[in-house]
Amino acid sequence: MPGETMARASAVVTAKGVTPKNGKVPTYGLFIGGEWVKSSSKEVLESRSPIDGSLLARFPQGTQGDVDKAVKAAKEALPDWMRTPAPRRAQILLQAARVFKERKKELGLLVATEMGKILPEAEGDVQEAIDIFEYIFGEGRRMFGETMPSELPKKHLMTMRVPLGVVGLITPWNFPIAIPAWKSSAALMAGNTLVLKPAEQTTLCAAKFVECLHEAGVPPGVVNMVSGIGEVAGDALVTHPDVRGISFTGGVETGKIVYQRAAARLAACGLELGGKNPMIVMDDANLDLALEGLMFGAFGTSGQRCTATSRLILHEGVYDEFLGRVLERVRKLRVGDPREPKTDVGPVNSREQYEKILSYIEIGKREGAKVLAGGRAVTKPPFDKGYFLEPTVFEAKHGMRITKEEIFGPVLSVIRIKSYEEAVRVANDVIYGLSSSIYTRDVNRALQAMHDLQAGITYINAPTIGAEVGVPFGGVKATGNKTREAGPHALEEFSDWKTVVIDYSDRLQKAQIDTEKLVG
Ligand code: UN1
Repeated sequence: MPGETMARASAVVTAKGVTPKNGKVPTYGLFIGGEWVKSSSKEVLESRSPIDGSLLARFPQGTQGDVDKAVKAAKEALPDWMRTPAPRRAQILLQAARVFKERKKELGLLVATEMGKILPEAEGDVQEAIDIFEYIFGEGRRMFGETMPSELPKKHLMTMRVPLGVVGLITPWNFPIAIPAWKSSAALMAGNTLVLKPAEQTTLCAAKFVECLHEAGVPPGVVNMVSGIGEVAGDALVTHPDVRGISFTGGVETGKIVYQRAAARLAACGLELGGKNPMIVMDDANLDLALEGLMFGAFGTSGQRCTATSRLILHEGVYDEFLGRVLERVRKLRVGDPREPKTDVGPVNSREQYEKILSYIEIGKREGAKVLAGGRAVTKPPFDKGYFLEPTVFEAKHGMRITKEEIFGPVLSVIRIKSYEEAVRVANDVIYGLSSSIYTRDVNRALQAMHDLQAGITYINAPTIGAEVGVPFGGVKATGNKTREAGPHALEEFSDWKTVVIDYSDRLQKAQIDTEKLVG
């Protein structure tokens, strides 16, 4: 076993939050070969709550050497895992769904404490993991290949899925359980072994995640985790010669680097990047419905979803009325501790995010957008210890930076439009294309929008967030590179197609050459 084994140091999650065991902040190692082992690194990564800055756990900042060890363990575990019958692998993954179900409350509380989203959404994050493991279980008895007719007699042609090998998963902090679950469920079902490099801000969630998989019976070495920062541990994984596939979710700038680094050694690479998701509200929309959808889409998860509604493209016919209703609701949103039932909007995840969002608010003001609600940090004690922001609404003009760049926070830009055509033009005029939504009661227009909106996902009369696991998730343009997570195509990212040709004629048959004789 690589490195020195460490005692499993668990943080205890109670109704009050995450409390260190015996009053001591737990120190974790790396999860390699089915156990927590020491890192070669002396540098520490601290997981702190965005609510009050409290220290939740310590992790090593994994090094290149640590990644080497984890990849080695994954490589050693690969032959057995690949040869495990797919329905058997699926049974283990179904067991993982059961473990997440049993631990849903505990993990939900941890997500709320470490990531900062409100409890119902934090439990939803865990539910998404349960759903995807249950969904992928069905693939265990499918994973269909094809047969094709041969041009020659006594020849059988077919295709089958084969794993890529060892894969590297690099996951973000905003869905600290669900996104590792999307990626690892499909990767494992396809027969790969993996190394997870989770976002440093939510490493404790990732540690619990890998422990759950282990508890479910995933064999040692099949799932490994190296905590650390992108520039070191992430890069070591992306550039490792034994890692055949990389799956990355995060920002577009990092995504470009990951893509180039993986391409340099011709490794497979799936990217899930940003969004600037529009909600179009037409003058014939059900405004009550649109209002509920907007509040959830723009301010749910404090706007920190890549599917978040960051632009409201509002028809002039209902502009004043709808905007008035939006502002009334936004001003009533209760910002606070995400673990309190009365809180609507929790903190943003980190100082970096907090400062970035505040700087975008300044950019918006400078470019002449009008702040209609919010616009400031919430610093009244006890919120001064965390990263709380007022939900913010800008009246903006299309083309301003705040209408084009991903802010990833509770900041909405409202843009007035005169027609459906203008709405579509504005909606599509950004580099991203993840999610989109239109509220209208005109069935013809709704169907037209289904074709016109350049996005991986279009919702009709529903908000931009909250995709189910049964549908493909991913975007067009700068949002990604064509891979889709979840849904019926989930295995594509993590498997290759093998063609198998069986000749049972007992003689050499030459395609393209002997064929001529046959057809005469
Ligand atoms: C993300 O923000 O990266 O559709 C994922 C949704 C969620 C997933 C979001 N099911 O909003």
